[in-house]
Amino acid sequence: MRNLDDLLAEGVSGRRVLVRADLNVPLDKQTGAITDDGRIRAVLPTLGALVQAGAKVVVCSHLGRPKGAPDPQFSLRPVAGRLGELLDAPVSFAEDTVGDSAQSTVAGLADGQVALLENLRFNKGETSKDSAERGAFADQLAALGDAYVDDAFGAVHRKHASVHDVPARLPHVAGRLVLREVEVLSRLTGDPERPYVVVLGGSKVSDKLAVIEALLPTVDRLLIGGGMCFTFLKAQGHEVGTSLLEEEMVETCRNLMERAPGKIMLPVDVVAADAFAPDAAHDTVPADGIPSHRLGLDIGPETVAGFAAVLSQAKTIFWNGPMGVFEMAAFANGTRGVAEAITKADAFSVVGGGDSAAAVRALGLDESSFGHISTGGGASLEYLEGKTLPGIAALEN
Ligand code: 3PG
Ligand code: MG
Repeated sequence: MRNLDDLLAEGVSGRRVLVRADLNVPLDKQTGAITDDGRIRAVLPTLGALVQAGAKVVVCSHLGRPKGAPDPQFSLRPVAGRLGELLDAPVSFAEDTVGDSAQSTVAGLADGQVALLENLRFNKGETSKDSAERGAFADQLAALGDAYVDDAFGAVHRKHASVHDVPARLPHVAGRLVLREVEVLSRLTGDPERPYVVVLGGSKVSDKLAVIEALLPTVDRLLIGGGMCFTFLKAQGHEVGTSLLEEEMVETCRNLMERAPGKIMLPVDVVAADAFAPDAAHDTVPADGIPSHRLGLDIGPETVAGFAAVLSQAKTIFWNGPMGVFEMAAFANGTRGVAEAITKADAFSVVGGGDSAAAVRALGLDESSFGHISTGGGASLEYLEGKTLPGIAALEN
């Protein structure tokens, strides 16, 4: 896989370099303000190097999941503003992705200047399953650059035009972020130092099933919290009140636990609340004593202590998914406790994913005390599953 240094060595001064970034940042529902700019910061090394080398830098990204047509709530305009602040240079913004505005914006770039195109997903061709439709959009995008850099690690698992089809049309390299992400994750799939402990949270077992299947034979311990733990607790024979439950996954969870006795560690206590609300009445209860009218919104302190004890022995740690509803202060202690335990462990630790990375920053934890904070949620999980990632495969071709 060629990388940014190879492109820089060829010389990029005066050339238009199309950079696919993952600037899919969380926005405040009320104000539309960017609530976590981690993904914007993560592409600065690549963009900075291109600016320095005098390239005309054309950045493109998706934001959210608009349905193939312009939708103002998913505009990248606020991201252009933040990107400009972080680069300390103006970023011109194109009102469309490949139309008149994009073409004139790109044509107006001087050497070392940066433009951001409007949301790729405002065009049907970006996510189309039809390769001709995707290809037609990729042709238009590719016409805006002389070379292509993929630095959108969070999107490399998507077979989308900007990720999978554009690199077939332009000289292509991996950006600094993609290169680093792949280097780090390959340490986990190679021969990780043991004990290798994985912590999984988040709401659904069904989203994590493939990675659990893939990791179960290799990990030493798998610690499970978050909304998905209730389906496992149910499989253990406990009643879970009105907690999140995937009834159709209970049998699968039972099989997983039987397949690897002792490897999967579940909560022994949970914080159960009257309602899904920041001010809901709540108590810590044993995992086998969740009242029928209550729902679990966090793991309890005894569970945190147990998880922390396992993590303190680990040499390699991968964590994906919050342990509870960390956006609400009353239900953030589990996520905070586990995150702190990870930072204290004498281990190589990787935080995978949008939500967990945002949790680290939202809880004010020191990012530098983790080995690596991945910008990819789905992408890092699919990498660990051993799947071929369309964006990476396209760069290798
Ligand atoms: C993400 O946030 O997981 C990435 O930006 C990919 O977004 P997607 O899941 O909408 O493809
Ligand atoms: Mg996602």
